[in-house]
Amino acid sequence: MCGIVAYVGLRPAAPLVFHALGLLEYRGYDSAGIAVLTPDGEIETEKTVGGVVALTSLLVRADLQTSGTAIGHTRWATHGAVTEVNAHPLSDCHGAVSIAHNGVIANADVLRRELAARGHRLVGEVDSEVIAHLVEEFVEEGSSIAVALTSATARLEGSWAIVAMDARTGTVAATAQGSPLIVSTTPEGTFVASDITAISDRVDAYQVLRSSDVVEIGRGGATWWDGGARSAGPSSSPVRWRATAEHGGRFDDHMGNEIDEQPAVAARVLDAFAGGIADGSLWRSLGLAGFDRIHRVVVLGCGTSLHAGIAIGRVFSDLGHLPVTALVASEASSFVPEPHTLVIAISQSGETADILRALDALSFPDRTLLALTNNPYSSLAREADAVIDCLAGVEIGVAATKTFVAQVMTGVAVALSGLCGSARVDRVDARAALEALTETPLRLDAALRGWSDSIPLLTEEFADASGFLFLGRGSGVVYAAEGALKLKELTYRWAEHQPAGELKHGPLALVENGTPVLAVDVGDRRLDINIAEVLARGGRVVRIAGVGPDPVGDLRPAPPWGPLEAVVPLQLFARSLAIRLDRNVDKPRNLAKSVTVD
Ligand code: F6R
Repeated sequence: MCGIVAYVGLRPAAPLVFHALGLLEYRGYDSAGIAVLTPDGEIETEKTVGGVVALTSLLVRADLQTSGTAIGHTRWATHGAVTEVNAHPLSDCHGAVSIAHNGVIANADVLRRELAARGHRLVGEVDSEVIAHLVEEFVEEGSSIAVALTSATARLEGSWAIVAMDARTGTVAATAQGSPLIVSTTPEGTFVASDITAISDRVDAYQVLRSSDVVEIGRGGATWWDGGARSAGPSSSPVRWRATAEHGGRFDDHMGNEIDEQPAVAARVLDAFAGGIADGSLWRSLGLAGFDRIHRVVVLGCGTSLHAGIAIGRVFSDLGHLPVTALVASEASSFVPEPHTLVIAISQSGETADILRALDALSFPDRTLLALTNNPYSSLAREADAVIDCLAGVEIGVAATKTFVAQVMTGVAVALSGLCGSARVDRVDARAALEALTETPLRLDAALRGWSDSIPLLTEEFADASGFLFLGRGSGVVYAAEGALKLKELTYRWAEHQPAGELKHGPLALVENGTPVLAVDVGDRRLDINIAEVLARGGRVVRIAGVGPDPVGDLRPAPPWGPLEAVVPLQLFARSLAIRLDRNVDKPRNLAKSVTVD
Protein backbone atom coordinates (compact mmCIF):
# COMPACT_ATOMS: atom_id res chain seq x y z
CA MET A 1 0.00 0.00 0.00
CA CYS A 2 1.06 3.58 -0.12
CA GLY A 3 2.29 4.97 -3.39
CA ILE A 4 5.52 6.81 -4.10
CA VAL A 5 6.35 9.09 -7.01
CA ALA A 6 9.40 11.24 -7.68
CA TYR A 7 10.51 13.29 -10.65
CA VAL A 8 13.72 15.12 -11.47
CA GLY A 9 14.01 16.77 -14.86
CA LEU A 10 13.40 19.67 -17.16
CA ARG A 11 9.65 20.01 -16.78
CA PRO A 12 7.70 21.51 -13.84
CA ALA A 13 7.84 18.67 -11.35
CA ALA A 14 4.84 19.37 -9.11
CA PRO A 15 2.11 18.85 -11.76
CA LEU A 16 3.81 15.67 -13.00
CA VAL A 17 4.01 14.22 -9.50
CA PHE A 18 0.44 15.33 -8.76
CA HIS A 19 -0.86 13.59 -11.89
CA ALA A 20 1.11 10.40 -11.20
CA LEU A 21 -0.08 10.32 -7.58
CA GLY A 22 -3.67 10.46 -8.82
CA LEU A 23 -3.05 7.34 -10.90
CA LEU A 24 -1.46 5.66 -7.89
CA GLU A 25 -4.14 6.60 -5.39
CA TYR A 26 -5.66 3.14 -5.49
CA ARG A 27 -2.65 2.05 -3.39
CA GLY A 28 -3.86 4.13 -0.46
CA TYR A 29 -6.03 7.17 0.13
CA ASP A 30 -5.89 8.02 3.83
CA SER A 31 -3.67 11.01 3.18
CA ALA A 32 -1.29 12.36 0.57
CA GLY A 33 1.50 14.87 0.13
CA ILE A 34 3.93 16.48 -2.27
CA ALA A 35 7.32 18.07 -1.53
CA VAL A 36 8.84 20.41 -4.11
CA LEU A 37 12.31 21.93 -4.20
CA THR A 38 12.09 25.72 -4.47
CA PRO A 39 14.51 27.78 -6.62
CA ASP A 40 16.11 28.92 -3.31
CA GLY A 41 17.02 25.36 -2.36
CA GLU A 42 14.28 24.91 0.20
CA ILE A 43 11.72 22.16 0.45
CA GLU A 44 8.06 23.19 0.32
CA THR A 45 5.64 20.48 1.44
CA GLU A 46 1.87 20.25 1.13
CA LYS A 47 -0.06 17.47 2.82
CA THR A 48 -3.70 16.57 3.12
CA VAL A 49 -5.84 14.07 4.97
CA GLY A 50 -7.91 12.64 2.17
CA GLY A 51 -7.50 12.56 -1.57
CA VAL A 52 -4.64 13.65 -3.82
CA VAL A 53 -7.08 16.00 -5.53
CA ALA A 54 -6.80 18.43 -2.60
CA LEU A 55 -3.05 18.95 -3.17
CA THR A 56 -3.35 22.00 -5.34
CA SER A 57 -1.66 24.89 -3.59
CA LEU A 58 1.89 24.06 -4.72
CA LEU A 59 0.70 23.54 -8.30
CA VAL A 60 -0.38 27.13 -8.69
CA ARG A 61 2.60 28.81 -7.01
CA ALA A 62 4.38 30.91 -9.60
CA ASP A 63 7.83 30.45 -8.04
CA LEU A 64 7.54 26.66 -8.31
CA GLN A 65 6.70 26.57 -12.01
CA THR A 66 10.38 26.18 -12.83
CA SER A 67 11.14 23.57 -10.19
CA GLY A 68 12.11 20.29 -11.78
CA THR A 69 12.36 18.27 -8.54
CA ALA A 70 9.51 16.85 -6.47
CA ILE A 71 8.50 13.76 -4.57
CA GLY A 72 5.00 12.62 -3.59
CA HIS A 73 3.20 10.00 -1.58
CA THR A 74 -0.26 8.60 -1.09
CA ARG A 75 -0.70 6.81 2.23
CA TRP A 76 -2.52 3.84 3.68
CA ALA A 77 -1.80 4.04 7.39
CA THR A 78 0.02 1.19 9.11
CA HIS A 79 1.73 3.00 12.02
CA GLY A 80 0.28 6.21 13.39
CA ALA A 81 -3.06 7.88 12.96
CA VAL A 82 -4.30 9.42 9.73
CA THR A 83 -3.15 13.00 10.27
CA GLU A 84 -1.30 15.61 8.24
CA VAL A 85 1.71 15.29 10.55
CA ASN A 86 1.93 11.57 9.82
CA ALA A 87 1.38 12.01 6.08
CA HIS A 88 4.46 11.81 3.83
CA PRO A 89 6.73 13.33 2.55
CA LEU A 90 8.47 13.61 5.91
CA SER A 91 11.29 15.96 6.78
CA ASP A 92 14.01 16.17 9.41
CA CYS A 93 14.19 19.07 11.90
CA HIS A 94 16.15 21.37 9.57
CA GLY A 95 14.42 20.72 6.27
CA ALA A 96 17.64 19.31 4.79
CA VAL A 97 15.93 16.26 3.31
CA SER A 98 12.45 15.04 2.53
CA ILE A 99 11.54 11.38 2.22
CA ALA A 100 8.62 9.22 1.17
CA HIS A 101 8.52 5.63 2.39
CA ASN A 102 6.46 2.56 1.67
CA GLY A 103 6.80 -0.50 3.92
CA VAL A 104 7.26 -1.08 7.63
CA ILE A 105 10.31 -0.26 9.78
CA ALA A 106 10.32 -2.98 12.43
CA ASN A 107 12.98 -1.35 14.65
CA ALA A 108 11.51 2.17 14.45
CA ASP A 109 10.96 2.41 18.23
CA VAL A 110 14.61 1.68 19.01
CA LEU A 111 15.80 4.14 16.34
CA ARG A 112 13.36 6.78 17.55
CA ARG A 113 14.80 6.59 21.08
CA GLU A 114 18.37 6.73 19.76
CA LEU A 115 17.60 9.74 17.56
CA ALA A 116 15.83 11.56 20.39
CA ALA A 117 18.88 10.94 22.62
CA ARG A 118 21.04 12.59 19.93
CA GLY A 119 18.82 15.67 19.98
CA HIS A 120 16.42 14.99 17.10
CA ARG A 121 12.86 16.18 17.57
CA LEU A 122 10.48 13.68 16.03
CA VAL A 123 7.01 15.18 15.75
CA GLY A 124 4.79 12.38 14.43
CA GLU A 125 4.00 8.76 15.20
CA VAL A 126 4.95 7.07 11.94
CA ASP A 127 7.81 4.59 11.73
CA SER A 128 8.97 6.27 8.51
CA GLU A 129 9.91 9.48 10.32
CA VAL A 130 13.12 7.90 11.63
CA ILE A 131 14.35 7.52 8.04
CA ALA A 132 14.23 11.27 7.42
CA HIS A 133 16.27 11.93 10.55
CA LEU A 134 18.81 9.18 9.87
CA VAL A 135 19.34 10.38 6.30
CA GLU A 136 19.72 13.94 7.55
CA GLU A 137 22.46 12.90 9.99
CA PHE A 138 24.54 11.43 7.17
CA VAL A 139 23.83 14.39 4.88
CA GLU A 140 24.95 16.79 7.61
CA GLU A 141 28.20 14.80 7.82
CA GLY A 142 28.76 15.64 4.16
CA SER A 143 27.57 12.45 2.46
CA SER A 144 25.80 12.59 -0.88
CA ILE A 145 22.10 11.77 -0.70
CA ALA A 146 22.74 8.31 -2.20
CA VAL A 147 25.44 7.50 0.36
CA ALA A 148 23.32 8.95 3.16
CA LEU A 149 20.36 6.81 2.14
CA THR A 150 22.56 3.71 1.92
CA SER A 151 23.98 4.39 5.38
CA ALA A 152 20.50 5.06 6.79
CA THR A 153 18.99 1.87 5.38
CA ALA A 154 21.85 -0.13 6.88
CA ARG A 155 20.28 0.77 10.24
CA LEU A 156 16.77 -0.31 9.27
CA GLU A 157 14.99 -3.61 9.81
CA GLY A 158 11.82 -4.34 7.88
CA SER A 159 10.74 -3.54 4.36
CA TRP A 160 10.98 -0.36 2.38
CA ALA A 161 10.81 1.56 -0.83
CA ILE A 162 12.23 5.02 -0.19
CA VAL A 163 12.84 8.18 -2.15
CA ALA A 164 14.88 10.91 -0.45
CA MET A 165 15.27 14.47 -1.76
CA ASP A 166 18.32 16.56 -0.89
CA ALA A 167 17.58 20.29 -0.48
CA ARG A 168 21.25 21.24 -1.10
CA THR A 169 21.55 19.70 -4.54
CA GLY A 170 18.03 18.91 -5.73
CA THR A 171 19.15 15.32 -6.13
CA VAL A 172 16.83 12.42 -5.30
CA ALA A 173 17.99 8.97 -4.19
CA ALA A 174 15.91 5.81 -4.28
CA THR A 175 16.28 2.35 -2.82
CA ALA A 176 14.02 -0.59 -2.04
CA GLN A 177 13.93 -3.82 -0.09
CA GLY A 178 10.81 -5.97 0.02
CA SER A 179 8.64 -3.25 -1.46
CA PRO A 180 8.56 -2.44 -5.17
CA LEU A 181 10.06 0.65 -6.79
CA ILE A 182 10.76 1.39 -10.44
CA VAL A 183 12.84 4.00 -12.26
CA SER A 184 12.44 5.32 -15.77
CA THR A 185 14.72 7.83 -17.47
CA THR A 186 13.27 9.73 -20.42
CA PRO A 187 14.54 12.74 -22.42
CA GLU A 188 12.32 14.97 -20.26
CA GLY A 189 13.51 13.65 -16.92
CA THR A 190 13.68 10.67 -14.59
CA PHE A 191 10.67 9.22 -12.80
CA VAL A 192 10.54 6.95 -9.77
CA ALA A 193 7.29 5.20 -8.81
CA SER A 194 5.89 2.37 -6.76
CA ASP A 195 4.46 0.80 -9.85
CA ILE A 196 4.13 1.39 -13.54
CA THR A 197 0.51 2.53 -13.29
CA ALA A 198 1.74 5.92 -12.06
CA ILE A 199 3.93 6.73 -15.06
CA SER A 200 2.86 4.43 -17.88
CA ASP A 201 1.39 7.41 -19.76
CA ARG A 202 4.82 9.14 -19.72
CA VAL A 203 7.43 6.45 -20.23
CA ASP A 204 8.13 3.58 -22.61
CA ALA A 205 10.41 1.44 -20.46
CA TYR A 206 11.43 1.12 -16.84
CA GLN A 207 13.87 -0.63 -14.51
CA VAL A 208 12.87 -2.41 -11.32
CA LEU A 209 15.10 -1.78 -8.31
CA ARG A 210 16.75 -4.85 -6.79
CA SER A 211 17.46 -4.89 -3.06
CA SER A 212 21.17 -4.18 -3.70
CA ASP A 213 20.46 -1.08 -5.85
CA VAL A 214 20.66 2.58 -4.93
CA VAL A 215 19.85 5.13 -7.62
CA GLU A 216 20.91 8.77 -7.57
CA ILE A 217 18.81 11.01 -9.78
CA GLY A 218 19.77 14.46 -10.91
CA ARG A 219 18.97 16.69 -13.90
CA GLY A 220 21.49 14.67 -15.94
CA GLY A 221 19.64 11.39 -15.38
CA ALA A 222 20.03 8.38 -13.10
CA THR A 223 23.23 6.89 -11.70
CA TRP A 224 22.94 3.30 -10.47
CA TRP A 225 24.94 1.71 -7.67
CA ASP A 226 24.78 -2.01 -7.03
CA GLY A 227 26.20 -3.05 -3.66
CA GLY A 228 28.27 0.15 -3.62
CA ALA A 229 29.73 -0.22 -7.13
CA ARG A 230 28.63 1.82 -10.18
CA SER A 231 26.39 -0.27 -12.43
CA ALA A 232 24.17 0.03 -15.47
CA GLY A 233 21.23 -1.12 -13.36
CA PRO A 234 18.93 -4.02 -14.12
CA SER A 235 17.65 -4.57 -17.65
CA SER A 236 14.65 -2.52 -18.77
CA SER A 237 11.12 -3.79 -19.24
CA PRO A 238 8.93 -2.25 -21.93
CA VAL A 239 5.63 -0.63 -20.97
CA ARG A 240 2.89 -2.65 -22.62
CA TRP A 241 -0.23 -0.89 -21.37
CA ARG A 242 -1.18 2.65 -20.42
CA ALA A 243 -3.14 3.41 -17.27
CA THR A 244 -5.88 5.99 -17.26
CA ALA A 245 -7.89 7.47 -14.42
CA GLU A 246 -10.77 8.36 -16.69
CA HIS A 247 -14.26 6.99 -16.14
CA GLY A 248 -15.84 5.00 -18.94
CA GLY A 249 -19.39 3.72 -18.72
CA ARG A 250 -22.84 4.62 -17.53
CA PHE A 251 -22.00 5.09 -13.82
CA ASP A 252 -20.10 7.79 -11.96
CA ASP A 253 -18.27 5.19 -9.91
CA HIS A 254 -15.62 2.87 -11.30
CA MET A 255 -17.08 -0.16 -9.54
CA GLY A 256 -20.41 0.05 -11.37
CA ASN A 257 -18.64 0.28 -14.70
CA GLU A 258 -16.24 -2.51 -13.82
CA ILE A 259 -19.18 -4.81 -12.94
CA ASP A 260 -20.72 -3.89 -16.30
CA GLU A 261 -17.49 -4.78 -18.10
CA GLN A 262 -17.46 -8.37 -16.84
CA PRO A 263 -19.09 -10.06 -19.86
CA ALA A 264 -16.58 -8.30 -22.13
CA VAL A 265 -13.68 -9.28 -19.88
CA ALA A 266 -14.80 -12.92 -19.90
CA ALA A 267 -15.09 -12.78 -23.70
CA ARG A 268 -11.58 -11.28 -23.94
CA VAL A 269 -10.15 -14.16 -21.89
CA LEU A 270 -11.90 -16.67 -24.11
CA ASP A 271 -10.62 -14.95 -27.27
CA ALA A 272 -7.09 -15.13 -25.95
CA PHE A 273 -7.03 -18.58 -24.42
CA ALA A 274 -9.99 -20.80 -25.38
CA GLY A 275 -8.32 -21.93 -28.63
CA GLY A 276 -5.52 -23.51 -26.60
CA ILE A 277 -7.72 -25.56 -24.26
CA ALA A 278 -8.86 -28.66 -26.19
CA ASP A 279 -5.41 -29.49 -27.61
CA GLY A 280 -3.53 -28.62 -24.41
CA SER A 281 -1.47 -25.94 -26.19
CA LEU A 282 -2.32 -23.17 -23.70
CA TRP A 283 -0.70 -25.21 -20.94
CA ARG A 284 2.35 -26.01 -23.09
CA SER A 285 2.73 -22.38 -24.15
CA LEU A 286 3.30 -21.42 -20.51
CA GLY A 287 6.44 -23.55 -20.48
CA LEU A 288 5.20 -25.46 -17.42
CA ALA A 289 6.32 -28.98 -16.56
CA GLY A 290 4.27 -31.74 -18.19
CA PHE A 291 0.87 -31.91 -16.55
CA ASP A 292 1.25 -35.59 -15.65
CA ARG A 293 4.25 -34.75 -13.45
CA ILE A 294 1.96 -32.74 -11.18
CA HIS A 295 0.67 -34.69 -8.20
CA ARG A 296 -1.03 -31.92 -6.28
CA VAL A 297 -2.08 -28.31 -6.62
CA VAL A 298 -1.87 -25.43 -4.15
CA VAL A 299 -3.89 -22.32 -4.86
CA LEU A 300 -2.46 -19.36 -3.01
CA GLY A 301 -4.08 -15.96 -2.57
CA CYS A 302 -5.81 -13.46 -0.32
CA GLY A 303 -9.38 -12.20 -0.19
CA THR A 304 -11.17 -12.23 -3.51
CA SER A 305 -8.15 -13.67 -5.32
CA LEU A 306 -8.17 -16.64 -2.94
CA HIS A 307 -11.85 -17.12 -3.74
CA ALA A 308 -10.96 -17.19 -7.43
CA GLY A 309 -8.27 -19.76 -6.60
CA ILE A 310 -10.75 -21.96 -4.75
CA ALA A 311 -13.09 -21.90 -7.76
CA ILE A 312 -10.18 -22.76 -10.10
CA GLY A 313 -8.94 -25.48 -7.74
CA ARG A 314 -12.21 -27.37 -8.11
CA VAL A 315 -11.42 -27.97 -11.78
CA PHE A 316 -8.23 -29.82 -10.83
CA SER A 317 -9.97 -31.82 -8.09
CA ASP A 318 -13.35 -32.54 -9.69
CA LEU A 319 -12.17 -33.22 -13.24
CA GLY A 320 -8.51 -34.15 -12.69
CA HIS A 321 -8.90 -35.96 -9.31
CA LEU A 322 -5.83 -34.13 -8.01
CA PRO A 323 -5.57 -33.13 -4.34
CA VAL A 324 -5.96 -29.37 -4.08
CA THR A 325 -5.09 -27.16 -1.10
CA ALA A 326 -6.36 -23.60 -0.88
CA LEU A 327 -3.78 -21.65 1.08
CA VAL A 328 -4.43 -18.28 2.73
CA ALA A 329 -1.17 -16.53 1.82
CA SER A 330 -0.68 -14.93 5.25
CA GLU A 331 -0.85 -18.42 6.83
CA ALA A 332 1.42 -20.22 4.38
CA SER A 333 4.28 -20.62 6.84
CA SER A 334 2.67 -23.70 8.38
CA PHE A 335 2.31 -25.44 5.02
CA VAL A 336 4.05 -28.83 4.76
CA PRO A 337 5.52 -29.02 1.24
CA GLU A 338 5.29 -32.11 -0.90
CA PRO A 339 7.06 -32.95 -4.14
CA HIS A 340 5.53 -32.44 -7.59
CA THR A 341 3.30 -29.59 -6.47
CA LEU A 342 1.95 -26.93 -8.79
CA VAL A 343 1.52 -23.67 -6.87
CA ILE A 344 -0.86 -21.23 -8.52
CA ALA A 345 -0.40 -17.82 -6.93
CA ILE A 346 -3.34 -15.58 -7.75
CA SER A 347 -3.07 -11.84 -7.28
CA GLN A 348 -4.57 -9.06 -9.37
CA SER A 349 -1.86 -6.62 -8.31
CA GLY A 350 0.98 -9.11 -8.13
CA GLU A 351 2.40 -6.96 -5.32
CA THR A 352 0.54 -8.34 -2.28
CA ALA A 353 3.12 -8.73 0.49
CA ASP A 354 1.40 -11.76 2.01
CA ILE A 355 1.78 -13.61 -1.30
CA LEU A 356 5.38 -12.59 -1.85
CA ARG A 357 6.31 -13.66 1.71
CA ALA A 358 4.38 -16.93 1.28
CA LEU A 359 6.60 -17.84 -1.65
CA ASP A 360 9.53 -18.21 0.78
CA ALA A 361 7.55 -20.79 2.75
CA LEU A 362 6.64 -22.49 -0.51
CA SER A 363 10.13 -22.67 -1.96
CA PHE A 364 10.78 -26.41 -2.03
CA PRO A 365 12.33 -28.73 -4.62
CA ASP A 366 10.02 -29.74 -7.46
CA ARG A 367 7.80 -26.73 -6.98
CA THR A 368 6.33 -25.21 -10.10
CA LEU A 369 5.02 -21.68 -9.57
CA LEU A 370 2.40 -20.28 -11.91
CA ALA A 371 1.50 -16.62 -11.35
CA LEU A 372 -2.03 -15.64 -12.36
CA THR A 373 -2.07 -11.88 -12.22
CA ASN A 374 -3.49 -8.76 -13.79
CA ASN A 375 0.01 -7.26 -13.78
CA PRO A 376 2.48 -9.40 -15.73
CA TYR A 377 5.31 -7.01 -14.75
CA SER A 378 4.69 -7.32 -11.02
CA SER A 379 6.99 -8.66 -8.31
CA LEU A 380 4.98 -11.89 -8.27
CA ALA A 381 5.36 -12.32 -12.03
CA ARG A 382 9.12 -11.86 -11.73
CA GLU A 383 9.34 -14.66 -9.12
CA ALA A 384 7.25 -17.18 -11.03
CA ASP A 385 8.26 -20.02 -13.36
CA ALA A 386 5.33 -19.14 -15.59
CA VAL A 387 3.01 -16.15 -15.78
CA ILE A 388 -0.45 -15.74 -17.21
CA ASP A 389 -2.02 -12.32 -17.57
CA CYS A 390 -5.71 -12.51 -16.61
CA LEU A 391 -6.49 -9.66 -19.03
CA ALA A 392 -9.00 -7.78 -16.85
CA GLY A 393 -7.64 -4.36 -17.85
CA VAL A 394 -6.99 -1.73 -15.20
CA GLU A 395 -9.35 -2.07 -12.24
CA ILE A 396 -9.62 1.16 -10.24
CA GLY A 397 -12.39 0.31 -7.77
CA VAL A 398 -10.75 -1.07 -4.65
CA ALA A 399 -13.26 -3.92 -4.41
CA ALA A 400 -12.27 -6.57 -6.92
CA THR A 401 -15.01 -7.35 -9.44
CA LYS A 402 -13.89 -7.78 -13.04
CA THR A 403 -10.50 -9.08 -11.90
CA PHE A 404 -12.30 -11.89 -10.03
CA VAL A 405 -14.17 -12.89 -13.18
CA ALA A 406 -10.97 -12.64 -15.25
CA GLN A 407 -9.01 -14.72 -12.73
CA VAL A 408 -11.61 -17.50 -12.65
CA MET A 409 -11.90 -17.53 -16.46
CA THR A 410 -8.13 -17.56 -17.00
CA GLY A 411 -7.37 -20.09 -14.28
CA VAL A 412 -10.11 -22.43 -15.48
CA ALA A 413 -8.81 -22.14 -19.06
CA VAL A 414 -5.29 -23.09 -17.90
CA ALA A 415 -6.57 -25.96 -15.76
CA LEU A 416 -8.73 -27.36 -18.55
CA SER A 417 -5.88 -27.04 -21.02
CA GLY A 418 -3.56 -28.99 -18.71
CA LEU A 419 -6.19 -31.64 -18.16
CA CYS A 420 -7.04 -31.93 -21.86
CA GLY A 421 -3.37 -32.50 -22.67
CA SER A 422 -3.14 -35.34 -20.15
CA ALA A 423 -4.82 -38.69 -19.64
CA ARG A 424 -6.38 -37.50 -16.40
CA VAL A 425 -9.70 -36.21 -17.67
CA ASP A 426 -12.77 -37.83 -19.12
CA ARG A 427 -13.21 -36.35 -22.61
CA VAL A 428 -16.97 -35.92 -22.20
CA ASP A 429 -16.53 -34.02 -18.95
CA ALA A 430 -13.85 -31.84 -20.53
CA ARG A 431 -16.06 -31.00 -23.51
CA ALA A 432 -18.99 -30.10 -21.23
CA ALA A 433 -16.71 -27.91 -19.12
CA LEU A 434 -15.35 -26.11 -22.17
CA GLU A 435 -18.89 -25.48 -23.41
CA ALA A 436 -19.89 -24.07 -20.02
CA LEU A 437 -16.83 -21.81 -20.00
CA THR A 438 -17.66 -20.58 -23.49
CA GLU A 439 -21.18 -19.63 -22.41
CA THR A 440 -19.95 -17.54 -19.48
CA PRO A 441 -19.96 -14.11 -21.17
CA LEU A 442 -23.60 -14.61 -22.16
CA ARG A 443 -24.57 -15.77 -18.70
CA LEU A 444 -22.80 -12.83 -17.04
CA ASP A 445 -24.61 -10.50 -19.39
CA ALA A 446 -27.95 -12.19 -18.71
CA ALA A 447 -27.33 -11.96 -14.95
CA LEU A 448 -26.63 -8.21 -15.24
CA ARG A 449 -29.93 -7.70 -17.03
CA GLY A 450 -31.87 -10.35 -15.07
CA TRP A 451 -31.11 -8.85 -11.65
CA SER A 452 -31.28 -5.16 -12.51
CA ASP A 453 -34.91 -4.62 -11.42
CA SER A 454 -34.86 -6.61 -8.21
CA ILE A 455 -31.61 -5.26 -6.73
CA PRO A 456 -33.11 -1.82 -5.85
CA LEU A 457 -36.06 -3.58 -4.16
CA LEU A 458 -33.75 -5.80 -2.11
CA THR A 459 -31.68 -2.74 -1.22
CA GLU A 460 -34.69 -0.94 0.22
CA GLU A 461 -35.89 -4.02 2.02
CA PHE A 462 -32.52 -4.62 3.71
CA ALA A 463 -31.33 -1.04 4.16
CA ASP A 464 -31.64 -1.31 7.95
CA ALA A 465 -30.44 -4.88 8.35
CA SER A 466 -27.46 -5.03 10.68
CA GLY A 467 -26.17 -8.41 9.57
CA PHE A 468 -26.35 -10.82 6.64
CA LEU A 469 -25.82 -14.54 6.17
CA PHE A 470 -24.56 -15.99 2.89
CA LEU A 471 -25.00 -19.72 2.29
CA GLY A 472 -23.91 -22.16 -0.37
CA ARG A 473 -23.23 -25.80 -0.98
CA GLY A 474 -20.43 -27.38 -3.00
CA SER A 475 -19.04 -25.05 -5.61
CA GLY A 476 -21.49 -22.37 -4.43
CA VAL A 477 -19.77 -21.92 -1.05
CA VAL A 478 -16.97 -19.78 -2.43
CA TYR A 479 -19.46 -17.47 -4.18
CA ALA A 480 -21.29 -17.11 -0.85
CA ALA A 481 -17.91 -16.16 0.64
CA GLU A 482 -17.29 -13.63 -2.12
CA GLY A 483 -20.79 -12.14 -1.64
CA ALA A 484 -20.18 -11.73 2.10
CA LEU A 485 -16.75 -10.17 1.50
CA LYS A 486 -18.13 -7.63 -0.99
CA LEU A 487 -20.97 -6.72 1.37
CA LYS A 488 -18.62 -6.22 4.33
CA GLU A 489 -16.03 -4.16 2.56
CA LEU A 490 -18.51 -1.88 0.80
CA THR A 491 -21.32 -1.40 3.32
CA TYR A 492 -19.43 -1.84 6.63
CA ARG A 493 -22.25 -4.17 7.76
CA TRP A 494 -21.55 -7.56 9.27
CA ALA A 495 -21.82 -10.51 6.93
CA GLU A 496 -20.77 -14.09 7.29
CA HIS A 497 -20.77 -17.01 4.94
CA GLN A 498 -21.30 -20.66 5.74
CA PRO A 499 -21.55 -23.95 3.92
CA ALA A 500 -25.33 -24.34 4.22
CA GLY A 501 -25.00 -27.69 6.00
CA GLU A 502 -23.12 -25.98 8.83
CA LEU A 503 -26.05 -23.73 9.65
CA LYS A 504 -27.62 -26.14 12.09
CA HIS A 505 -24.25 -26.55 13.87
CA GLY A 506 -24.33 -23.02 15.25
CA PRO A 507 -25.01 -20.06 12.92
CA LEU A 508 -28.75 -20.82 12.79
CA ALA A 509 -28.90 -19.14 16.21
CA LEU A 510 -28.32 -15.82 14.42
CA VAL A 511 -31.50 -16.15 12.38
CA GLU A 512 -34.56 -14.31 13.62
CA ASN A 513 -37.51 -12.54 12.06
CA GLY A 514 -36.36 -10.78 8.89
CA THR A 515 -32.66 -11.84 8.98
CA PRO A 516 -31.43 -11.59 5.36
CA VAL A 517 -30.01 -14.90 4.10
CA LEU A 518 -28.63 -15.02 0.56
CA ALA A 519 -28.31 -18.61 -0.65
CA VAL A 520 -26.22 -19.54 -3.71
CA ASP A 521 -27.97 -22.50 -5.33
CA VAL A 522 -25.84 -24.83 -7.48
CA GLY A 523 -28.52 -27.46 -7.89
CA ASP A 524 -27.82 -29.44 -4.68
CA ARG A 525 -31.33 -30.06 -3.38
CA ARG A 526 -30.15 -30.39 0.21
CA LEU A 527 -30.00 -26.60 0.10
CA ASP A 528 -33.81 -26.59 0.11
CA ILE A 529 -33.75 -28.23 3.55
CA ASN A 530 -31.40 -25.55 4.86
CA ILE A 531 -33.54 -22.82 3.36
CA ALA A 532 -36.60 -24.35 5.04
CA GLU A 533 -34.72 -24.23 8.36
CA VAL A 534 -34.13 -20.50 7.87
CA LEU A 535 -37.72 -19.79 6.80
CA ALA A 536 -39.06 -21.66 9.84
CA ARG A 537 -37.22 -19.11 12.03
CA GLY A 538 -38.61 -16.10 10.15
CA GLY A 539 -35.46 -15.50 8.08
CA ARG A 540 -35.84 -13.79 4.71
CA VAL A 541 -34.19 -15.90 2.00
CA VAL A 542 -32.97 -14.61 -1.35
CA ARG A 543 -32.05 -17.48 -3.62
CA ILE A 544 -29.21 -16.80 -6.06
CA ALA A 545 -29.70 -19.30 -8.85
CA GLY A 546 -29.44 -19.04 -12.60
CA VAL A 547 -29.22 -15.64 -14.23
CA GLY A 548 -32.11 -13.86 -12.54
CA PRO A 549 -34.23 -13.78 -9.41
CA ASP A 550 -36.77 -16.15 -10.95
CA PRO A 551 -34.80 -19.35 -11.56
CA VAL A 552 -37.61 -21.32 -13.21
CA GLY A 553 -36.34 -22.97 -16.40
CA ASP A 554 -32.72 -22.02 -15.73
CA LEU A 555 -31.76 -24.39 -12.96
CA ARG A 556 -28.97 -26.67 -14.06
CA PRO A 557 -25.91 -28.17 -12.42
CA ALA A 558 -23.07 -25.68 -12.11
CA PRO A 559 -19.73 -26.44 -13.81
CA PRO A 560 -16.85 -27.55 -11.53
CA TRP A 561 -15.76 -23.95 -10.84
CA GLY A 562 -19.31 -23.04 -9.80
CA PRO A 563 -21.87 -20.57 -11.14
CA LEU A 564 -19.63 -17.62 -12.01
CA GLU A 565 -22.64 -15.51 -12.97
CA ALA A 566 -23.83 -15.75 -9.32
CA VAL A 567 -21.21 -13.19 -8.43
CA VAL A 568 -23.07 -10.54 -10.44
CA PRO A 569 -26.16 -10.15 -8.18
CA LEU A 570 -23.89 -10.38 -5.13
CA GLN A 571 -21.70 -7.54 -6.41
CA LEU A 572 -24.71 -5.50 -7.53
CA PHE A 573 -26.42 -5.90 -4.17
CA ALA A 574 -23.32 -4.92 -2.18
CA ARG A 575 -22.73 -1.86 -4.38
CA SER A 576 -26.36 -0.80 -4.32
CA LEU A 577 -26.69 -1.11 -0.53
CA ALA A 578 -23.38 0.75 -0.07
CA ILE A 579 -24.60 3.63 -2.22
CA ARG A 580 -27.92 3.63 -0.32
CA LEU A 581 -25.87 3.95 2.91
CA ASP A 582 -23.82 6.76 1.40
CA ARG A 583 -20.53 4.85 1.25
CA ASN A 584 -17.79 5.53 -1.27
CA VAL A 585 -17.95 2.31 -3.31
CA ASP A 586 -14.65 2.94 -5.10
CA LYS A 587 -12.70 3.65 -1.93
CA PRO A 588 -14.06 1.70 1.02
CA ARG A 589 -12.72 2.94 4.34
CA ASN A 590 -9.51 1.39 5.72
CA LEU A 591 -8.73 -0.53 2.53
CA ALA A 592 -6.33 -0.20 -0.38
CA LYS A 593 -6.07 -1.79 -3.78
CA SER A 594 -2.54 -3.06 -3.51
CA VAL A 595 -1.69 -4.46 -0.09
CA THR A 596 2.08 -4.30 0.16
CA VAL A 597 2.49 -4.71 3.93
CA ASP A 598 2.28 -7.81 6.15
C1 F6R B 1 -11.68 -7.56 -2.13
C2 F6R B 1 -10.32 -7.40 -2.61
C3 F6R B 1 -9.23 -8.02 -1.81
C4 F6R B 1 -8.10 -8.53 -2.72
C5 F6R B 1 -6.91 -8.98 -1.85
C6 F6R B 1 -5.80 -9.57 -2.69
O1 F6R B 1 -12.58 -6.93 -2.98
O2 F6R B 1 -10.07 -6.77 -3.60
O3 F6R B 1 -9.70 -9.04 -0.98
O4 F6R B 1 -8.59 -9.60 -3.48
O5 F6R B 1 -6.41 -7.89 -1.14
O6 F6R B 1 -5.28 -8.62 -3.58
P1 F6R B 1 -4.45 -9.07 -4.84
O7 F6R B 1 -5.35 -9.79 -5.75
O8 F6R B 1 -3.90 -7.81 -5.43
O9 F6R B 1 -3.36 -9.98 -4.33
